[in-house]
Amino acid sequence: MFTPEMMESVKKVEATRAARMATEPRRMTAEEKDALLKEYHPDYRDAGFAEIKIGPNKGQKAPLELSKLLHSNSRLLNEKVDLNKIDYDVDVLVIGGGGAGSSAAIEAHEAGANVMIVTKLRIGDANTMMAEGGIQAADKENDSPVQHYLDAFGGGHFAARPELLRRLVMEAPDAIRWLNELGVMFDKEPDGRMVTTHGGGTSRKRMHACKDYSGAEIMRTLRDEVINRKIPVVEFTSAVELIKDDKGQVAGAVLLNMETDDYMVARAKTVIIATGGAGRLHYQNFPTSNHYGATADGLILGYRAGAPLLYQDTIQYHPTGVAYPSQIFGALVTEKVRSLGAMLVNKDGEAYAHPLETRDVSASAIIRECAKGKGVETPLGSGVWLDTPMIEILGGPGTIEKRIPAMLRMYLNYGIDMRKVPILVYPTLHYQNGGLEIGGEGYTKAIPNLLVAGEAVGGIHGRNRLMGNSLLDIIVFGRNAGKAAARRAKEVELGEMNIDHIYAYAEELKAAGLDTEEVSPLLLPKYARHER
Ligand code: FUM
Repeated sequence: MFTPEMMESVKKVEATRAARMATEPRRMTAEEKDALLKEYHPDYRDAGFAEIKIGPNKGQKAPLELSKLLHSNSRLLNEKVDLNKIDYDVDVLVIGGGGAGSSAAIEAHEAGANVMIVTKLRIGDANTMMAEGGIQAADKENDSPVQHYLDAFGGGHFAARPELLRRLVMEAPDAIRWLNELGVMFDKEPDGRMVTTHGGGTSRKRMHACKDYSGAEIMRTLRDEVINRKIPVVEFTSAVELIKDDKGQVAGAVLLNMETDDYMVARAKTVIIATGGAGRLHYQNFPTSNHYGATADGLILGYRAGAPLLYQDTIQYHPTGVAYPSQIFGALVTEKVRSLGAMLVNKDGEAYAHPLETRDVSASAIIRECAKGKGVETPLGSGVWLDTPMIEILGGPGTIEKRIPAMLRMYLNYGIDMRKVPILVYPTLHYQNGGLEIGGEGYTKAIPNLLVAGEAVGGIHGRNRLMGNSLLDIIVFGRNAGKAAARRAKEVELGEMNIDHIYAYAEELKAAGLDTEEVSPLLLPKYARHER
């Protein structure tokens, strides 16, 4: 299972365990954190970024791979799409079939709207499904939304948009109630109270979980609800461009059938972008914990139509991706492993940082250890130990199987029993902190009737997100977007439809010296067998 060199290092981890457990590593000071981030966090590596040359965020920086997509043309530029031939005509069009899109569709349907989901893969093929550790909500006696706000605001470097973060924390308890009533099987005590734990940067235990497959359980429930309500879901179909009308409002989207390559037109009075993240762009060559479809499509659709981005230059690298074995390189090792007591330890058996610093700080500390030769060599680079046997010592035998069975199974598949030996981890690209800018009601600032929900939104979390606030935001902002879109659809009168903005964008690209053959959105990651 481990190489002889790794086993030598495991012995050091074991030798220092008792002493490490007797003294908790201290927390870093604010100054120490700032210095660490500047030296080691990938967001500070200039070579990973480029200036955006056109559009609302012109002059700002974006990850190289995203800026390349922003500097590409519409795939419709040289296509003839008959906008008068309407294939779907709805009140609310939801682009994306993950947790945010499904929540939005359920609430729009509840409000009586004619709603449809379009998704390039299948409903539930999304980062929601990949989420493990839990969902935050301040719903216990010793906690409050104010406390939740302060934790998230500080963890996000005081950059969260207050109106968005306020909504997130205030509506969190109701989000848990809603999910519970829909049938999500949260971990509960014998008396029915929810089991809650800490995450990095939380001052109270407010992480609600379904073992370590919280996202899969939430997505299962939402998908069942969408199906039970008979909400139409058009699968294997991508939205490739927004449609506007002659009043400048959003009026639908051009869709591409991924199997036949046919274009279709969906007319809609309101549109919700819920397309998720960007991990499959592999910024700075990082592996990713993200779903196969995470290629930032919604950011491109919105930006080309004129909607500004916010914090597109800040990315979350989850501290603990799998570093070894190579077959599951980059897969998520939930933060809950550290919530349950496992320490981060370097190759010499030293605990070099508190295990529950915020994610950007923890990731930077791991990168620093490895850069300084304190990591353990692996076939694909290096990593540090996560001392998982500590969980069984602290919580008693059987704790790992009971609380994080998915982790246990994942490693057992490769002959590694994390109850007995530590595991090797290194940061993995996990989340885009930035995205399309919205106001408190979920609407983009620039395009009437266009809303955004979920990971495609920028500004909810500021420049770093705490664990469990993403499963929360997809529910809170998804539900709100669905309700708002259904309300607005009742008032909307659509004018004549056009995609003039794609031609204007092409002209802007040319004027900026970016005469390009590249097209975006990407739709499928680069290593897909059939590139588009
Ligand atoms: O570590 C985790 O389980 C991830 C949770 C999150 O990103 O919120």
